[in-house]
Amino acid sequence: MNEWVELRTSGIHGRGGFARAPIPSGTRFIEYVGRRVSKAESAALCTEGNPFIFTINDEWDIDGDVPSNPARFLNHSCSPNCEAQQEDDRIFLVALRDLGPDEELTFNYGYDISEWRDYPCACGAPDCLGYIVAEEFQEQVRLELAKDATPTEVATEL
Ligand SMILES: C[S@@+](CC[C@H](N)C(=O)[O-])C[C@H]1O[C@@H](n2cnc3c(N)ncnc32)[C@H](O)[C@@H]1O
Ligand SMILES: [Zn+2]
Repeated sequence: MNEWVELRTSGIHGRGGFARAPIPSGTRFIEYVGRRVSKAESAALCTEGNPFIFTINDEWDIDGDVPSNPARFLNHSCSPNCEAQQEDDRIFLVALRDLGPDEELTFNYGYDISEWRDYPCACGAPDCLGYIVAEEFQEQVRLELAKDATPTEVATEL
């Protein structure tokens, strides 16, 4: 297990990772480890419902569905307190600010914009977008949602 992270039931989803002790801002507190898999293999695993695939580059992903990878339980938040940082082919989770003990550790999953409606978010942040997407797509999704909410104008004939 990891010195900084413990697993508990999460208010966001299933199990989540929580700080065991204060984690200073900037600490790389856990590595996301697993099996290196090709895109073809990760696509097959996703189709089977494996939610633990982490993209490394255009050729390779990590299948984090291994017992030695407690980082796989970290949930997504639209207002995360951690971020994933990549160094070569390795992924580390880093605290974005000083974190108190018992805080749930979250990061932005960085999902693509395609099929964003299939990934509802339950992070509970005051500014939760309602869907899991990468930060750079959040504005686009907000605009789409605003369009959905605009009542259609009814043409009136004189
Ligand atoms: C890598 S797992 C995270 C661990 C998960 N909580 C568990 O118990 O297995 C990713 C899955 O957790 C769920 N999840 C994570 N963050 C979420 C969020 N903010 N809102 C809704 N579901 C979330 C989704 O089902 C997603 O496919
Ligand atoms: Zn959210």
